[in-house]
Amino acid sequence: MNNFTYQNPVKIIFGKDSIGQLDSLLPKDAVILITYGGGSIKKNGVYEQVITSLGKKRTVFEFGGIEPNPLYETCMKAVEICKKHKITFLLAVGGGSVLDGTKFIAAAAHYTDGDPWEILANKAVVNSAIPVGSVLTLPATGSEMNSLAVISRDNTKEKLHFCSPCIYPVFSILDPETTYSLPARQLKNGIVDTFVHVLEQYITMDLNTPLQDRQAEAILKTLIELTPRLLSSQKDYDSRASLMWCATQALNGHLSCGVVSDWATHMIGHELTAFTGIDHGQSLAIVIPGVWKYQFWDKSKKLAKYATNVWNIEGLMEIDLAKAAIDVTEEFFDDMGMFTRLGDYDIDVEIIDRIAERFKQRGAILGENNAITPEVVREILISRL
Ligand code: NZQ
Ligand code: ZN
Repeated sequence: MNNFTYQNPVKIIFGKDSIGQLDSLLPKDAVILITYGGGSIKKNGVYEQVITSLGKKRTVFEFGGIEPNPLYETCMKAVEICKKHKITFLLAVGGGSVLDGTKFIAAAAHYTDGDPWEILANKAVVNSAIPVGSVLTLPATGSEMNSLAVISRDNTKEKLHFCSPCIYPVFSILDPETTYSLPARQLKNGIVDTFVHVLEQYITMDLNTPLQDRQAEAILKTLIELTPRLLSSQKDYDSRASLMWCATQALNGHLSCGVVSDWATHMIGHELTAFTGIDHGQSLAIVIPGVWKYQFWDKSKKLAKYATNVWNIEGLMEIDLAKAAIDVTEEFFDDMGMFTRLGDYDIDVEIIDRIAERFKQRGAILGENNAITPEVVREILISRL
């Protein structure tokens, strides 16, 4: 097991009616900016619950319209509002995009060294940020309990991430009932995103980490077991609650302690989204089988372990178990109605060439063994047409 340092300061308030605790979590004298997306929170009653909990005595401003794959251009409009009204607390209400956008707004509002895009493009250090709290409505990204944000830029078609301890939410409220209004597409995205977060930290090199492996396997098995119920029953509280907790646990830093992570699927997936607009979860279901096939020999031991411990496949040689693991994962995505091929979204070789070229320009090499060159990215994507 590798050495590691782990600290996660996020306070989680989980469960039914937990939005009612919002008032007690915020300083009485805070100047609050509520941030949200395209309006789902106004249709499903979450906005109403937030406003009721905050009461009438607070100073509250609002900023709506943070889009899926939040745009730098949109976030910068909110930064202006933060400066104008001297906002002291940002309350993100929505999915991962609203949370990520808000984390960037928080950091950009305190950034004084030039254009905040530098935080994303050149990893400029974030030394301070407006405190952020969240009310999560879409279990998927883990943003509610991590220090990561992913931001897109419209005019350059870029999608980049940054990390900083300053952007951990102070608290996140997770009420599974807020997920009842999710369309099937977003629910599937959330399941796949959570599943792939675990796999990116688990299907790498074997460092003899039985606890971390079993923690990963527990989340994967729970998701496999829950998926039929999640997709067939809209108001099954227990399955929604378990999905929500799985998603948070999958990317709060816990699983990556002492192990080596991959993240090639995410890096390639982000480019697919940047160039084509497909959803984050959709991009991952396409890419991961390809990454595994091209990294087969480096990953075969863990793939075989995953086949046995998660999918209960037995009685085969290690290499055949590893192959079966790739097939059964793709089938899992297919069975839930998640496309696994670029052709399913009419994405062709022209986009693949642009993605490979972009990695080449950045000098980016991906994967836990630094073996995925831009040429390999191209081959992986060609194999997924
Ligand atoms: O915008 P509104 O109207 O709120 O609608 C949203 C949006 O259209 C809707 N939605 C959210 N909660 C809902 C709901 N509709 C009905 N009922 C609800 N309860 O769902 C749509 C998608 O929302 P979005 O926030 O974009 O989805 P998600 O949570 O999957 O976030 C995706 C973004 O997070 C990034 C992705 O790259 C992408 O930009 N990621 C962030 C990570 C992180 N911060 O750690 C890690 C991830 O790997 C990922 O990269
Ligand atoms: Zn993800």
